[in-house]
Amino acid sequence: MAASYPPAALSRLHPGGAGGCPGGPVGYARRQEVRTMTDAFTVLKADHTEVEALLTRLTGGAGPASAASPDPARDAETLVMAESRHEAAEEMYFWPTVRERVADGDALANEAKAQEAEGKRVLDELRTCAPGDGRFEELVATFAAAGRAHIDFEETQVWPKLRAVLTPADADKLGDELTRAKAAGPTRPHPDAPDSPGALKTTGVAAAAMDKVRDAVSGRGRH
Ligand SMILES: [Fe+2]
Ligand SMILES: [Fe+2]
Repeated sequence: MAASYPPAALSRLHPGGAGGCPGGPVGYARRQEVRTMTDAFTVLKADHTEVEALLTRLTGGAGPASAASPDPARDAETLVMAESRHEAAEEMYFWPTVRERVADGDALANEAKAQEAEGKRVLDELRTCAPGDGRFEELVATFAAAGRAHIDFEETQVWPKLRAVLTPADADKLGDELTRAKAAGPTRPHPDAPDSPGALKTTGVAAAAMDKVRDAVSGRGRH
C-alpha cells in the first residue's frame, strides 16, 4: 500500500514548507515522491501474486502439470526470472532486516533461506528442461508445492512479526531497497553462489550483469 502522510509529516520531509506553486515542478515532485513510495509488504505481495498466478497456469490448478498454460515454456522462463530477482532481493535486504528487528528473526530467516535454497535448485534444473520431457512437469509440480509453502511461511509466520516492529517509514525504505535490488538482480537462480547479503552486493552484482548479457544475446525474457 502506498504510504500517505499527514501534512505535518510532509512539511518535515520538505522543509521548504508550503511555498512554491502546487501545480509547478516543485509541487509535482512532491506528489511523485509520495506516490512512488511503496512499502516492503506491498512490493513482496505483488511478486508472490505473480508467482502464484504462474504456478496456477503451469500446474493447471488441480489438473495435470502444464495443462492450463498455452505456453508453459514461456511461463516457466518468466517464473525462473521473477523468482531469481525476488529471492535475491529478499536475501540482500529483507532477511537481514528480519534478523535485526524480529526477536526470533535468525530462526525464521534460517528456515526461509533453506526453503529458498531448495527452490533455487529446482528452478535451476527446470530452466534446462522442456515441456513434455517428463522432468519438466515433475519439477513444476515440485516447485509449485514448495513455492506455495514458502510464500505461506513468509506471509503468515514472518510478515506479521516484521510489520509489528517496522514504522511506516521503515517499511517504505525497505520497499525501495527491494525494488532497486530486483531491478538490478539476477535472472537465474545461481544455487551454488554465496547467498550472504554482502556477497550478493558484490559478486552477486557481477553475476546479475552477466545474466543480463546472456539474456540479451539469447533473447530470453523478451516477450
Ligand atoms: Fe522468499
Ligand atoms: Fe517472498
